Amino acid sequence: MSRPTPNVTRSLETYKRAGELIPGWTQLISRRASQFANGISPTYAERAKGSRFIDIDGNEYIDWVSAVGAIILGHADDVVDGAVKEQIDRGSLYSLNNPLEVELAEELINTIPSAEMVRYTKGGGEACAVAARIARGTTGRDTILFSGYHGWHDWYQAANYLADPESGEFPFAGIEPIGVPKVLANTVIPFTYGNLEMLENLLKAHQGEVAAIMMEPIRSELPEPGYLEGVKALAQQYDVLLIFDEVSCGWRLAIGGVQDYVGVTPDMTVVAKAMSNGYAMGAVVGSREAMEPASRMFISSSYWSDNLGLVAALTTIRELKRRDSETRFKEIGEKLRAAINEAIASVGIAGACTGLHTGPSVTLELPDASLADKVKTLFIQEMSRRGIHCYMGFRPTLAHTDEDIRLTADVTAEALAVIKSGLDAGDVDSLLECDIKKEPFRRLVR
Ligand SMILES: Cc1ncc(COP(=O)(O)O)c(C=O)c1O
Repeated sequence: MSRPTPNVTRSLETYKRAGELIPGWTQLISRRASQFANGISPTYAERAKGSRFIDIDGNEYIDWVSAVGAIILGHADDVVDGAVKEQIDRGSLYSLNNPLEVELAEELINTIPSAEMVRYTKGGGEACAVAARIARGTTGRDTILFSGYHGWHDWYQAANYLADPESGEFPFAGIEPIGVPKVLANTVIPFTYGNLEMLENLLKAHQGEVAAIMMEPIRSELPEPGYLEGVKALAQQYDVLLIFDEVSCGWRLAIGGVQDYVGVTPDMTVVAKAMSNGYAMGAVVGSREAMEPASRMFISSSYWSDNLGLVAALTTIRELKRRDSETRFKEIGEKLRAAINEAIASVGIAGACTGLHTGPSVTLELPDASLADKVKTLFIQEMSRRGIHCYMGFRPTLAHTDEDIRLTADVTAEALAVIKSGLDAGDVDSLLECDIKKEPFRRLVR
């Protein structure tokens, strides 16, 4: 895409105003300007359709962030939005329940292996908090062992009072557990993904205290064969509930979730984000045994079963099935990965595009690990100025086309050539026209 660097003045001005009015600038850390190339990347959008969005300065971008994975069919999908618009005309929220609540439960139960009963929320972190409550209520125990990211709520952020048992670092580097009750320290304990021995040692050390193991079953790669089976066997041996958080990994790899793909069924599952293609929705599903006691727990909120979230989720799941999404995601993701690997090879920079087809990402071999954040930022900067919105990784939707992939690969080659020139000259700094991207937290999972 040969065109001048987009002018993002209105984004910058609006962000400045936000800084004065909204503590932390945005509601989602991943949407902060510091996550991108602040000064070059856009921060505010005004419309989006399919694989693209237009920022408030009028620039168009190919979007590979896909609302941090929440957009799966493509922005403003005609079928989902059509169903939502019809529902708006019939009412967005009733005094009574809507039978859609039962219809969606049936669809989820028919789709996700672990689902026999269902509760709803409006988001992923909230659904994780509900799952933690149910697990504690069902087992009568307090401790939760976890691996991965599970949202902002106290039950989980209390983990930050502990250091990572392996590295000695806090689970979320750079984020302090300010405002999280200290009495929750030690109620939620991290384990390292892939390490069954560590998990078993924790289960032994806390025998009789653990309610659940909550984990992201995968992130960028499939697990080692036998790992998730081993986690499930330990959960059964120590009589604790196994909860898969499929908020990020769910839907794209398999509509029934990672559990369907790898054949390991947990007791409970948390889903959200992509389940409703851009409308607020989340759910906890699980076995009757694990979930039924929730009928006696105080878990209740006014908007959890609003009609728009319900209809959006039902339509999105049915559209994923109708559009043969699993095959399509494989095609799109593999094409993208191959095209980017060709771009890497054409530039002659050491690196590769790897990871599952649902979220391939670029890793570069650097002469010095301390350059990592600068190079990431430079990549985002050079992609952004050429009309591609991404991190070092890419989140395909069903709306991404061959043309999007071709343009993205061409731009990747140009961006990598800039990075290579900086690395060869031993001077990346002078190529950076923005602040260095900040990593707000790291996940205890590959
Ligand atoms: C695995 C996982 N769990 C929970 C959450 C929190 O979801 P939400 O941002 O909808 O609260 C996320 C968000 O990225 C996630 O990736």
